[in-house]
Amino acid sequence: MTETLDIQITKTTHSRLAETDFDNLPFGKTFSDHMFVADYADGEWKNFRVVPYGEIGFSPAISALHYGQAFFEGLKAYKHADGKVVIFRPDKNAERFNKSGERLCMPALPEEIFLQGIAAVVDIDRDWIPTRANHSLYIRPFMFATDPFLGVQPSSTYKFIVLTGPVGPYFSKTLRVKIESHYTRAAEGGMGFAKAAGNYGSSLMPAKKAVDEGFDQLIWTDAKSHEYIEEMGAANAMFVLDGKLITPTAGDSILKGVTRDSVMCLAREWGMTVEERPVSVAEIIEGAKNGKLTDAFGAGTAATIAPVGSISYDGEEYFLSDPKDREFSQKVLKTLDAIKNGTEPDTRGWTYV
Ligand code: COI
Repeated sequence: MTETLDIQITKTTHSRLAETDFDNLPFGKTFSDHMFVADYADGEWKNFRVVPYGEIGFSPAISALHYGQAFFEGLKAYKHADGKVVIFRPDKNAERFNKSGERLCMPALPEEIFLQGIAAVVDIDRDWIPTRANHSLYIRPFMFATDPFLGVQPSSTYKFIVLTGPVGPYFSKTLRVKIESHYTRAAEGGMGFAKAAGNYGSSLMPAKKAVDEGFDQLIWTDAKSHEYIEEMGAANAMFVLDGKLITPTAGDSILKGVTRDSVMCLAREWGMTVEERPVSVAEIIEGAKNGKLTDAFGAGTAATIAPVGSISYDGEEYFLSDPKDREFSQKVLKTLDAIKNGTEPDTRGWTYV
C-alpha cells in the first residue's frame, strides 16, 4: 500500500481568489494561494508542507542558478460538473520526472511524493480550478539544486515545489511555423528528452528570431543533418500524412509527451495507422505541396492540440487546410476534452481523482 505522507499545512490568511479575473487568464501569470514544498538533504526527502504561495529565499550561490540543475513537469487538473476534481495522467508525469532527474544527476522522487504533493495543493486550492471551456488548473512541479557551492558537481541538497494556477489556452491562434535549419534544440546523447530548464533556455533566442520574422513557433530539426523534424516549439510535432498519424520517434532528443501518447492511443483505437519514426522535412513539404498533409499540430499539456496553419521552409510558405475542417485533430481535441471534463466516461484509466 502507498504510504500517506505527513504533510504540514499552513493556510494563507489572505486568499487572492476573489481578486482574480477568471475572464482573463493568460498562461502562467496567475498562481493559486498555496504551493507544496519538500526538501532533499542527507539522502532523503523530508519536510513535506503546503504553504502560502510566495517568495522563497536562498543563497545566490545555489548550483541551480549557475550550472542548471533544474527541471520541471506540466500537467492539468479539471473540475467536473458534479464537483469531482481530476488530474490527467499524472503517473506519466511522475515517471518522466524521474527520467529528467536521472539525466541531470538529481535524486529520484518517489511517485507517492509527486502525486500526494500535487493532490494536497490541488485539494486545498480546488476553488481555483476554472470550469469554463478550454480552461484548467495548470500544475507545475519542479526540482532544483540548492547547495551554495560553485564547484561543478552534483548538489547534495534540492527542493521539490509544486505551483498551480488557473489557465486558459496557451495559443490563441492557428500557428504560422518555420522549420529551423540552423539552430538545434537537442542532440543524440544530450538531454532533449528531459524537461530540463536549460532546454527551454537555449530555445529562446532562435524562437525570438523566428517571432521577429513573423512566425509563431519553430519546428526544430535534428542536430546532425537538419533534415528530420524533431519538436515544435515546446510541444511534440504530429502530422497526418497520407491518412496516417506520424510523429518523430521519442529518442534522446525528443520529449515523450503525455498528450503525444494520448493522441497516438486514440488514433490506434480508431483504427488509424500510427507511425513513430524519423519524419523528414522533405516528406512534410512534399505532403504540403500535394495535399497529402491533411493535419499538422503541436501536442503538449500547455498547448493541448495547437493547429499549424502554415509551414515555412527555405523562404517558401506552405499553407494547410482550415483547422476547423480537419477531421482528425478536431476529433482528438473533442475526445480529450470530454475525458478530462468528465462528459465522456474515462474507460482508459487516464484520470486520477
Ligand atoms: C507543458 O506543456 O507543460 C510544457 O512543458 C510547455 C511549457 C514549457 C509551457
